[in-house]
Amino acid sequence: MREKTTNRTYQRSNRANELTPEERAIFDTLDRDRIPQHVAIIMDGNGRWAGKRALKRFLGHQQGAESVQYVVETASRIDLPWLTLYAFSLENNLRRPKNEVSFLMKLLKSYLVSNVQRMNDNNIRMAYIGRTHELPNEVQDTMRWAEEHTAKNTGTTLTLALNYGSRSEIVDATRRILHRMFAEATKRGISLEDMLAAEGVDDAIKSRIDEQQISENLYTASMPDPDLIVRTSGEQRISNFLLWQIAYAEIFVTDRLWPDFRGIHLLEAIQSYQQRERRFGGLGEGSDEDLSDVLPAENEFARL
Ligand code: FPP
Repeated sequence: MREKTTNRTYQRSNRANELTPEERAIFDTLDRDRIPQHVAIIMDGNGRWAGKRALKRFLGHQQGAESVQYVVETASRIDLPWLTLYAFSLENNLRRPKNEVSFLMKLLKSYLVSNVQRMNDNNIRMAYIGRTHELPNEVQDTMRWAEEHTAKNTGTTLTLALNYGSRSEIVDATRRILHRMFAEATKRGISLEDMLAAEGVDDAIKSRIDEQQISENLYTASMPDPDLIVRTSGEQRISNFLLWQIAYAEIFVTDRLWPDFRGIHLLEAIQSYQQRERRFGGLGEGSDEDLSDVLPAENEFARL
């Protein structure tokens, strides 16, 4: 399978000495050469965390924002190059009460403003995926500010998925490919129809729309696909998150609610990941079974 290449220089920090003793104990059991390149997390359970304490939901979100910082700092200490967090889905935007949406927007802004310094101290770079242009202007301004102020960092990239939906990402990628085809025809001074016909319509479309083209037009074009996807609070679903990109990711579901999730739990997820055998649709190691005894002879296929 083709490995996706990213044009980003990642610098290892070798800061494992900054882990807590509990984190360090798990880290020491890990194979350093098999730390995943990219972990994506569906942060769920803020509301339930608050409900269990008879608190308002917004306090669960506030505590959830604290977890974000703990987890990304541990990620940076173990040299995890890419961490992507599902912070606000398109569905959250459309289906949650207006006051909850506006609280989440304020929380995001204040999270960014208060943590950019810490991001820089930890060499963390901020990035975003999603239809972020639909977010309130002042939120977009703060996002841009945080991105610019961390752009030179060469450690972990923290990507926040905001106003994100995977199906709409695939729709946006398809639209971009079509726009690019139109632009190409315009540049060549011919109609799209003539441009495609000149190459043979089938071949022309195949060469312009394939898996690589779709990958390169997703919001995640510059990132490797996630190796591991974590979901908190026990639900066993993907909820429209990175559907294309997680085709071969390992899935780790924990009952722990997101506000209780810390760096040590990220390390536990990675420990579980390292115990899995990734096959990418192939066979596992040592699977060189001789099938000649069980397969029908060639001339018997005709009768099957
Ligand atoms: C699910 O909890 C989580 C979210 C709606 C989004 C995640 C938001 C945060 C972690 C806080 C802000 C993040 C940043 C980056 C500042 P839920 O409300 O669906 O929980 P429930 O299923 O228990 O009700």
